[in-house]
Amino acid sequence: MKIYLLLQKRYMNKFSLLFLSVLFVACKQPSPDKFIDDLMSRMSVEEKIGQLHLISGTDAISGENLYSDSNKTVMEIRKGKVGAFINAKGVNKIRELQRIAVEESRMKIPLLFGMDFLHGYETIFPIPLGMASSWNLKNIETAAHIAAVEASADGLNWVYSPMVDIARDPRWGRIAEGAGEDPFLGGEIAKAQVRGYQGEPAYADNTNILACVKHFALYGASEAGRDYSVVDMSEQRARNDYLYPYQAAIEAGVGSVMSSFNEINGMPATANSWLLDDVLRKEWGFQGFVVTDYASINDIQRFGMGNSYGAAIMSLKAGTDMDMESYAYYFNLQKALSNGDINIRHIDDACRRILKIKYKLGLFKDPYKYCDTTRPARDIYNAKHRETARKIATETFVLLKNDSNLLPLKKQSTIALIGPHGNNRPNMLGSWGWPANINKATTLLEGMKEYASVIYARGCQPYEDMTQEDYLSLTKDFEKDPRSEAELLREALSVAKKADVIVAALGESAEMSGESSSRSDLNIPAPQKRLLKALVATGKPVVLVLFTGRPLTILWEKDNVDAILNVWFPGTEAAFAIPDVLFGDVNPSGKLTATWSLNVGQIPIYYNIKNVSKPMQEWFHKFRSGYLDVPNEPLYPFGYGLSYTTFDYGEIAINDTVMSEKDTLVATVAITNSGDRDGYETVQLYIRDVVASTVRPVKELKGFEKVFIKKGETKNVSFKITSSLLKFYNYQLQYVCEQGEFELMIGRNSADTQTITFTLI
Ligand code: BGC
Repeated sequence: MKIYLLLQKRYMNKFSLLFLSVLFVACKQPSPDKFIDDLMSRMSVEEKIGQLHLISGTDAISGENLYSDSNKTVMEIRKGKVGAFINAKGVNKIRELQRIAVEESRMKIPLLFGMDFLHGYETIFPIPLGMASSWNLKNIETAAHIAAVEASADGLNWVYSPMVDIARDPRWGRIAEGAGEDPFLGGEIAKAQVRGYQGEPAYADNTNILACVKHFALYGASEAGRDYSVVDMSEQRARNDYLYPYQAAIEAGVGSVMSSFNEINGMPATANSWLLDDVLRKEWGFQGFVVTDYASINDIQRFGMGNSYGAAIMSLKAGTDMDMESYAYYFNLQKALSNGDINIRHIDDACRRILKIKYKLGLFKDPYKYCDTTRPARDIYNAKHRETARKIATETFVLLKNDSNLLPLKKQSTIALIGPHGNNRPNMLGSWGWPANINKATTLLEGMKEYASVIYARGCQPYEDMTQEDYLSLTKDFEKDPRSEAELLREALSVAKKADVIVAALGESAEMSGESSSRSDLNIPAPQKRLLKALVATGKPVVLVLFTGRPLTILWEKDNVDAILNVWFPGTEAAFAIPDVLFGDVNPSGKLTATWSLNVGQIPIYYNIKNVSKPMQEWFHKFRSGYLDVPNEPLYPFGYGLSYTTFDYGEIAINDTVMSEKDTLVATVAITNSGDRDGYETVQLYIRDVVASTVRPVKELKGFEKVFIKKGETKNVSFKITSSLLKFYNYQLQYVCEQGEFELMIGRNSADTQTITFTLI
């Protein structure tokens, strides 16, 4: 107080007074550390372990449900033996669980309530791979914020997102959940998502929730694209190509991290102290807590590394704070403490980190911060959110082909909408769409009818083997049609005959990507492909509206179908967003963020491959790095996507060709919209380190800008190049930039760029 008065005298102006008053009020609040010290001094060991225990509600299944039983759960909360919940849905239920925690347990510590709503809560946005394809960070942030607004209105305060695993193998179904293959883009997107969920400043109001970056780490590098499989890679590659997006989320202030199911070079991520302690905490300065993936401490036994007791000890000592559904901490930590296999500091550290986040969220001040029962009616699935989701979805679609400008379609024409995806609700939502009410989703047929005269036929079954639906889908996406393939085809061809244009709505079902949905064949399912061939054979113009959660090997389609619009799984507003683009109310602007291969044999395939000893120059040469039967080039490169207009790129202008580590170069290119529609273009900057002390990639994305250019207009797009963009982990794992020549490339996609050089001195 004395200091305050003294300072007030000396600096008596309005602003300093205001500042000092704020400081004074802040000083009067107990610091989080003091508050938590006091709390922990009164907690029993059992209650501390309770904070490390996350259990499952019963409103959804996102893993094997091991022990949950709702009566027992309530008793456990009363005893202070639960720290957090996953998969409890509904504000009234959550409010009641929170009430039991803060009114009926001894320590009155509030609970965390988490869920996977990674592309929307009840207003569902496109799957994350689709969102990334918009290259629109503002939209990505907005979608995350709307998900947070809706979920927090329903009582939730924690989201298991962003998922930032770099994936270069589309056989892996979870490529759908992330941003694709590029670490720079992945990092930018991760930051936008964290801002969207947590807000800035973090947790300021009851629409800002705790985010959780996952799956730490390298989960996307699973061997052969098989989920939960082996990950073995050099630390240099991990650091240069995979770790940055997680780090970017930490830099953006993410409050929690989920460790991954996989092992890394022989050590499971959940028990990996190099990952969780050395890199995450010591090197990156992470201050939040680490939660396991679903029951992943139990997986340590499956890895053949001992029993639950040993797995719990290993995980805790490595820096895993919260156990999701393994019950390994719950059953073993007391005993481990008595046996001297851990000491109380291990439990205290984990407990403190969790309590600190609960404090930061504001739950000690108001445990019902996220339990306002008046909010759901106003905040969930409202008209504004739906309108935003529709607009955002249109920017995620990628126009892969458009021969003779078949698209946009004319609203006066008669359209034959054919294919199982044309009249389906749940499938529009994508792999994590389950929090939504699937009955509220509209079908593409309903949406398209608002634009034109549309006649529909299902055409075929979605899969060759319809029993697949039973084990694949948690939601039963497609009903089996009792008719034979021949009957379905006959109907489709007769519908096609009456139309000017065929729109074939085909592709994967939503559950064919996502967790535990790896595929070794990346074609459109066989009956759908047979249907498509028959439709093309009619000679009518065919537009393929492609649904998928991953890059597909659609070489035949590329060669034979007139136009292809890839729409991923667009979410609740699919029915309207798709025709918005098909009929030209919106000009498509999405660009791929993962390479599409010619066939499965080319996989893994990605644009930022390292230099190889004998690079291929053209078609096959003996003693060159290539294949006998396919070229090295992909079907569609990273960054690729067409528009209904055309953009011409001028030459790159650069303000200098030499820079020092302190300088900033500016490279500018003029882009002209030379077509007859306004549109967005995503301009991409790539850099290649020409001579380095270790093997470097042939190019790396280092900047991008999405610009709106009116028809006939020219806009200059500039990129600033600082030495931080030139840094990488060298052979000794030092993060450096090296003097010498660099190539700077600007273009419309990773395979279509112009190049100039500059030198770092
Ligand atoms: C998934 C995570 C998810 C968790 C909780 C796991 O099976 O790998 O991504 O957050 O379940 O639902």
